Amino acid sequence: MTTVLLTGATGYIGRRLEKTLRERENVSLRLLVRSARKLTAKTRQHATVIEGDTFNKQALQQALEGVDTAVYLIHSMGKGPDFSRLDRDSAENFLAACLEQGVQKIIYLGGLGLVDSSSAHLASRRETGEILASRPDRIRTLWFRAGVIIGSGGASFEMVRHLVEKLPVMITPRWVNTLTQPIGVDDVVAYLTAALCLDPAENLVVDIGAPAMSFLDMLTQTAQVMGLRRWIFPVPLLSPRLSSYWLTLLTPVPYKIGAALVEGLKSETLVQNDHAQRFFPEIQPMSFLQAVGQAIREMEQDLVISRWCDSSPGATCDVSEQPSPGQSIFRDVQTVPFAGAKAEQVFASIISLGGENGWFSYTFLWQLRGWLDKAVGGYGLNRGRRTAADLRVGDALDFWKVADLVPNKRLLLQAQMKLPGKAWLEFDLQQDALVQTAHFIPHGLWGRLYWYAVLPFHAFIFPNLCQKIVDRARSMPPS
Ligand SMILES: NC(=O)c1ccc[n+]([C@@H]2O[C@H](COP(=O)([O-])OP(=O)(O)OC[C@H]3O[C@@H](n4cnc5c(N)ncnc54)[C@H](OP(=O)(O)O)[C@@H]3O)[C@@H](O)[C@H]2O)c1
Repeated sequence: MTTVLLTGATGYIGRRLEKTLRERENVSLRLLVRSARKLTAKTRQHATVIEGDTFNKQALQQALEGVDTAVYLIHSMGKGPDFSRLDRDSAENFLAACLEQGVQKIIYLGGLGLVDSSSAHLASRRETGEILASRPDRIRTLWFRAGVIIGSGGASFEMVRHLVEKLPVMITPRWVNTLTQPIGVDDVVAYLTAALCLDPAENLVVDIGAPAMSFLDMLTQTAQVMGLRRWIFPVPLLSPRLSSYWLTLLTPVPYKIGAALVEGLKSETLVQNDHAQRFFPEIQPMSFLQAVGQAIREMEQDLVISRWCDSSPGATCDVSEQPSPGQSIFRDVQTVPFAGAKAEQVFASIISLGGENGWFSYTFLWQLRGWLDKAVGGYGLNRGRRTAADLRVGDALDFWKVADLVPNKRLLLQAQMKLPGKAWLEFDLQQDALVQTAHFIPHGLWGRLYWYAVLPFHAFIFPNLCQKIVDRARSMPPS
């Protein structure tokens, strides 16, 4: 039995790795997470959970006590201009705690890219790897480096998919011809899992990727898998900044992530060593076509495990606050009795809101709010939902985040749209009625003016929404 600490277990790669490790009989799994509420009941049942972050030295010590292998899947991209310093401090704290607790091996996933041409994000990923690998006398580090990762819900895949879906004709910047070696997310998880059993005599950097291709190839091959005919014309005029705005407008990926991806694609990200084949010959990475096919299948079958928007762009976890908007100043409360329907049916109806299922009434007003949000740099409605019927705490749901979920009782959505204040939408199932409350804490005068300006729209939307949820519940299967 080996004891493994997994960090980043609520993130895109971490959730998938956690699912794999949880099923291993010879692994005693421990998780360091910023908010345990984001974990499913199944995960909590199979792993020991320590709440804290890498800036909390006490939590780190507790999480690493008795650990053989520590997996580091943390980054600070999106946490503002200071992200490199945060990345550095986080890695230094982690290494110091690993040394103190006698950890034997660190597994880290960073990015591909050469030193000279690296973006700030990739440079920081490299620095993190160097810090983690800086004590080979005490701890072996297996440092994986991946370029574009392709999988359902992944930022790169979502970007490519939305572009291909929405634009029959594309003019593309010159950097679309830059070479990269994408890799399917399942292969990434396979390498990280296999690394648990590898004990090399010294530190190892393992570059992983499928055969080289350009971003242009990715667009055309994705169109091929999706059965779409697309015309693509590269032009020299589009600057990276303009491309990033364009991506923000057309895809769910916000400007900061889009800009980092574009920055990363401007220079080649190619595998620099053959360690993947030498040390993990049993893993044959799937082709880009296969990875896209797999991602689309997972979406169609509602089997998306994680998405790029699961984790928080902020310096703290986005659902770590007390899940109660108790101090809200403005409220809109609607109560609709649900006689004739069971509580489970009403709850199933509530948790099917949003994404492709829509908001049940006044769709054009919801869409208008989404466009306005997108126009001022918000997420808009583009993030949709992870699966058609299931929600968990931490899931993005259009421009909301699931902040609390008590089955058959309560759903609390925290607004992530651009607002002059803080807002929540709460659904509470009482004995025989659904109580829906929109809460708002305004920021200063603008916040108050905003609330009064949207009141006329609320007068249509909210009573109707609550009624429609109950109406739909009555037509839902009772199980
Ligand atoms: N995704 C890709 O396409 C890709 C490509 C190449 C390389 N990589 C590398 O893979 C690794 C994982 O990336 P990812 O995409 O899975 O990231 P992600 O989805 O953004 O998840 C980051 C995770 O780290 C947690 N976290 C952030 N700061 C923390 C801190 N200070 N202490 C404890 N936990 C913290 C987050 O928790 P919360 O849920 O609380 O926010 C979340 O679980 C990164 O090193 C990245 O560079 C990713």
